[in-house]
Amino acid sequence: MRGFQPRCDWRFILLRFFDSIPAMPLKIDVLTLFPRMLDGFLAESILGKGIEAGLLAVNVHDLRAWTTDKHRTADDRPFGGGAGMVMKPEPVFAAIEQLQTPGCRRIYLTPDGVPLSSKLALELSEQQHLVLLSGHYEGIDQRIRDTLIDQEISIGDYVLTNGTLAAAVVIDALARFIPGVLGEEKSLTHESFSSKLLDFPQYTRPAEFRGMSIPEVLLSGNHAEIEKWRHARQLEKTRRVRPDLLT
Ligand code: ADE
Repeated sequence: MRGFQPRCDWRFILLRFFDSIPAMPLKIDVLTLFPRMLDGFLAESILGKGIEAGLLAVNVHDLRAWTTDKHRTADDRPFGGGAGMVMKPEPVFAAIEQLQTPGCRRIYLTPDGVPLSSKLALELSEQQHLVLLSGHYEGIDQRIRDTLIDQEISIGDYVLTNGTLAAAVVIDALARFIPGVLGEEKSLTHESFSSKLLDFPQYTRPAEFRGMSIPEVLLSGNHAEIEKWRHARQLEKTRRVRPDLLT
């Protein structure tokens, strides 16, 4: 039998070398007229910890920094008439042209975009660089959408006063898929939408509270029975609240 042979062929050395380089954290640039709306959101909770740990980097930019007139004008009246104001192309073009990198995904948050889903959030979490543009007023000049935007995303069939909260929702949804952000990877596996079923009910101590006791099976220690009970609750809730997920 041959003794221990150090692996020194070049393919092995290259693999070890690339393995030892930490993956670049996802970088997100947010362009908004209301940057302060994101202050608390980015500093708090799981997302704040993920940013602090360097698992993702989020830079929020005030679009008005790219205006050139003394009033810092970011909007104007629509050609052809109509109510409301439209975001001007010049500051948005200047901002995105400065921030974009080769291969980055430039996203516009808008109620007429593709709906955000768990699948899309996962796909976004695997990118290297996102530029999120949040709109305001009656919309943005179509030339921005035609030439600068790779994807338009909606967070639901309702209209917000601006897209900044929508950008926050996208960041929150994708951050949960970045390894290490949730801490306990397991918590992603059971939850709603990763399995197309809604979540099962959760309980914690005390087992009895104001006359309400928790389901007996959860105290049984019988893991197979607990799994069965949880799955039945998931099916029952999905049938009642989101039957479309079962078709
Ligand atoms: N901006 C305003 N409403 C929005 C929505 N529902 N989704 C994404 N961006 C928006």
